[in-house]
Amino acid sequence: MSVLKTDLFGRIERRNDGGLAHVLRDTRSAPWWTTPLARHLLRREHRALTLLAGLPRIPRLIDGNAVQLRREWIEGLPLHRAPRPDARYFREALRLVRQMHARDLTHDDLAKEPNWLVTPDGLPAVVDFQLARHAPKRGRLFRMLAHDDLRHLLKHKRSYLPERLTRRELRILAQPSPLSRLWRVSGKRLYLFVTRRLLGWADREGAGDRLV
Ligand SMILES: Nc1ncnc2c1ncn2[C@@H]1O[C@H](COP(=O)(O)OP(=O)(O)O)[C@@H](O)[C@H]1O
Ligand SMILES: [Mg+2]
Repeated sequence: MSVLKTDLFGRIERRNDGGLAHVLRDTRSAPWWTTPLARHLLRREHRALTLLAGLPRIPRLIDGNAVQLRREWIEGLPLHRAPRPDARYFREALRLVRQMHARDLTHDDLAKEPNWLVTPDGLPAVVDFQLARHAPKRGRLFRMLAHDDLRHLLKHKRSYLPERLTRRELRILAQPSPLSRLWRVSGKRLYLFVTRRLLGWADREGAGDRLV
């Protein structure tokens, strides 16, 4: 067993019970004051993984209860620690995001590089569905969040492979949704203050020691 991450919402462990490698999300180590939120986020991930069953390189849900969840381990390295991704990576990543959206689900946390994995054959996998939102009516909020999912992916492409951005992709990058504009002028500062100053988090979870 190895601990991948610990935060206010619990622990993420890599386990290998009975030869099956999997990831255990355990909210029991969360402090009492975040426990209700931690369990709510766990339920969100549970539902999202159920809805996405069968998509390639999305962890398969193994099982879960009110406090824990087990999902398949996908071999790979987080984007900021992996060898530089190529055009095929981003093509497949785009396809994966569209497949999620086709199931009426937005991920809502794709700006974070640790939530993108690069598999040994250079393909994208996505983890961490705690914030994912299911919107079968595909209303305005869904459409804005879906647009922002795409933009977040394209920002990674801009970091790693800017010369391959198409005109259309550049246009999407230049058009933040009203939501993300609102976030930029107000929410983000508060979020950074709370997470960095008060809680001591860092979004890229070690991106400073990027290897490549
Ligand atoms: N299947 C996996 N394969 C490789 N690394 C993983 C896998 N699942 C999680 N990780 C690593 O562990 C980190 C924490 O998992 P994640 O589900 O993102 O938890 P959190 O919601 O706390 O961010 C991920 O950002 C990723 O870098
Ligand atoms: Mg994460």
